[in-house]
Amino acid sequence: MLALLSLPFICSWFGQVSSSLTPFVLHERRSRSPSGWVLERKHDASAVLPLRFGLTQSNIQNLEEYLYDISDPDSSNFGKHWTPLEVAKTFAPSAESVKVVHEWLIDNGIPKDRLRITPSQGWIEVDATVEEAEHLILADYYVYKHESGQEHIACNEYHLPQHVAPHVEIVTPSVHFDAIIRPTPMNRDTALMKTDITVVNTTYLGVGHCDTQISIDCLRALYDFDYTPIASGRNSYGIVEYTPQSFRQSDMDLFFTNYSISELIGRPPYQVSIDGGYQQTFNQSFDYVGESHLDLQYGMGLVTSKLNVTLYQVGDTVNPNTSFNNFLDALDGSYCNYEGGDDPTVDAIYPDTQAGGYDGPSACGTTKPAAVISTSYGYNEADLTPFYATRQCNEYAKLGLMGVTILYSSGDSGVAGNGQVCLNDDGSQSVNGTRFNPSFPGSCPYVTSVGATQIAAGNSVDDPEVAAARVTASGVFYSGGGFSNVFGIPNYQKDAVATYIKNFKTDNFTTSAYNSSGNSRGFPDVAVNGAAYVVAAEGEFILEWGTSASSPTMGSIIAMINDARLAIGKSTIGFINPTIYSTLFQEAFNDIRSGNNPGCGTEGFTAASGWDPLTGLGTPNFERLKELWLALP
Ligand SMILES: *[C@@H]1O[C@H](CO)[C@@H](O)[C@H](O)[C@H]1NC(C)=O
Ligand SMILES: *[C@@H]1O[C@H](CO)[C@@H](O)[C@H](O)[C@H]1NC(C)=O
Ligand SMILES: *[C@@H]1O[C@H](CO)[C@@H](O)[C@H](O)[C@H]1NC(C)=O
Ligand SMILES: *[C@@H]1O[C@H](CO)[C@@H](O)[C@H](O)[C@H]1NC(C)=O
Ligand SMILES: *[C@@H]1O[C@H](CO)[C@@H](O)[C@H](O)[C@H]1NC(C)=O
Ligand SMILES: *[C@@H]1O[C@H](CO)[C@@H](O)[C@H](O)[C@H]1NC(C)=O
Ligand SMILES: *[C@@H]1O[C@H](CO)[C@@H](O)[C@H](O)[C@H]1NC(C)=O
Ligand SMILES: *[C@@H]1O[C@H](CO)[C@@H](O)[C@H](O)[C@H]1NC(C)=O
Repeated sequence: MLALLSLPFICSWFGQVSSSLTPFVLHERRSRSPSGWVLERKHDASAVLPLRFGLTQSNIQNLEEYLYDISDPDSSNFGKHWTPLEVAKTFAPSAESVKVVHEWLIDNGIPKDRLRITPSQGWIEVDATVEEAEHLILADYYVYKHESGQEHIACNEYHLPQHVAPHVEIVTPSVHFDAIIRPTPMNRDTALMKTDITVVNTTYLGVGHCDTQISIDCLRALYDFDYTPIASGRNSYGIVEYTPQSFRQSDMDLFFTNYSISELIGRPPYQVSIDGGYQQTFNQSFDYVGESHLDLQYGMGLVTSKLNVTLYQVGDTVNPNTSFNNFLDALDGSYCNYEGGDDPTVDAIYPDTQAGGYDGPSACGTTKPAAVISTSYGYNEADLTPFYATRQCNEYAKLGLMGVTILYSSGDSGVAGNGQVCLNDDGSQSVNGTRFNPSFPGSCPYVTSVGATQIAAGNSVDDPEVAAARVTASGVFYSGGGFSNVFGIPNYQKDAVATYIKNFKTDNFTTSAYNSSGNSRGFPDVAVNGAAYVVAAEGEFILEWGTSASSPTMGSIIAMINDARLAIGKSTIGFINPTIYSTLFQEAFNDIRSGNNPGCGTEGFTAASGWDPLTGLGTPNFERLKELWLALP
């Protein structure tokens, strides 16, 4: 909402240049303080604020259109990915925006030598006194205090001259309360069921025991996936782990020895260290190696020794805040400062001055993204502000423009969030909340979210799978899925979601438990077996469950489709969602029609024919997918 204000008197006093003589307009206003915060006092006039003007990104409103243009199979530009430089240039603020904001600040008494423009040209920064800031943007700054004792500087509203306003997206600090108070220090969680650990005493080759033990042979049979790469020189597949998660080579070797994959014995993944990431050896218990061993043993085993898997090892062992943003900064230097850069209340800030912390600078554009990147960690969407989630989601779209496929596990708690927590009416989270709690980044429309299936007890690899479900004395695991409370429905998914809502909207729970309007992003997009993977850890073989298993397996399948395309001179497949939802690909997935994903005191959603919010479009069939993708330009 924009409101015109009267001409501020200061302009006539100082006889400023005509460009400054435009009326001020309201730029942003907040109606009330977020819960838990109270206004404490007026801020000191002489206190210094790190005032930052986020300039309007060019073309950001076209991001989705650009992405579909290169990833919709009906588009003549399908597969024509952009270079990172093209992406950075397209979205950089215009030279005019930089000039207008810069001139306005100088005209209003801020000397040129106090102004800084960030290297991305995205921000103009000035350390200004509260008095200067209040005069510049017609605001009153206050100190707010949270119940927890934390303080925050904010204003209720601010204004910009009419000629400046279109060039500025955001001013910080201002009305925002991005400092969210989190219930636990670390909401980023591995999508891995952490319950009783089952040790297996016999591993099997072949497909005779796949309902009780998943192996590489089982996955190959389930998904018609037996392919030896031939174009590895141009191909890449990345798996992301956050330290202290680590792998131990002796366990990798044990796995490949017992499954007779001798070429991978003694062959670690190609490791890229980001923000000090390394393989810690101080703790080798399940909590510290379970995710890495699962992802790497299967990710590497499935693509064979002919493609070197890249391990992105992110963060030090002592900083619990290392986040997807820290990783994304390493992949794309233009993201580091975009819209204010990382959020120090959520993301890790490097150098990390703690004992044992990584004391180097934050990685920024230090590594080239692999063609497929699988991550088996996730937040609850409600852990993050919409601004934070949207900023990160847009970055996934930019990576899609560059031809990168981004896969995230959809979560292991059915319609509930990590730790089985659900949403209360006020948006807070607790175990007795009644609203469904979607995961992030799975709810971002520009990633491919991977849910989990399993082979029903007594069935074989030839029987249809069902949605994953496991109930033990110490916990439950159901495929994460549902509808976003932040992101609207993407075009590619409209028909699929409409069909589901029309035919299968359940009356087992009230539709106020989730956004049942059909206008919100549904997830996951696909599903892959996530039950009872045999993993070598601590010198033994154990079973692991979770969408954590599903994502790297899907990644291996995509990586091999890329190989087949690269081998005939075509591009990698990049952002796959517009393709996999298209009618052309209707038969490429095995539809899953049985199972549900309980949570929040409900039975959750029920698997149904076509797309559903627990197994997506279904499980992949490699041969069918490969043929279809080879036929695309
Ligand atoms: C493996 O052997 C141990 C000890 O002999 C036994 O306690 C355990 O139940 C066995 N595990 C399975 C899955 O049979
Ligand atoms: C792994 O292989 C070794 C050597 O063949 C064998 O002794 C051991 O029983 C196998 N472990 C399992 C769990 O099958
Ligand atoms: C994979 O890595 C190994 C060891 O670093 C190297 O010898 C081999 O050439 C690499 N293969 C490919 C396809 O890049
Ligand atoms: C390793 O981590 C586990 C699980 O968090 C913990 O119980 C154990 O004490 C740790 N061991 C060492 C050596 O720190
Ligand atoms: C992690 O983030 C929390 C919440 O913002 C903060 O209190 C804590 O100091 C951060 N930890 C480190 C090591 O930076
Ligand atoms: C929700 O559960 C918490 C304990 O986890 C309890 O303290 C609280 O009273 C419960 N709230 C409601 C509304 O039942
Ligand atoms: C309601 O839940 C039951 C039990 O889980 C299930 O069989 C049924 O299909 C569900 N109904 C709908 C409309 O999803
Ligand atoms: C949820 O549904 C309402 C309509 O009931 C809609 O206005 C709102 O935008 C939806 N939220 C999202 C994220 O799509």
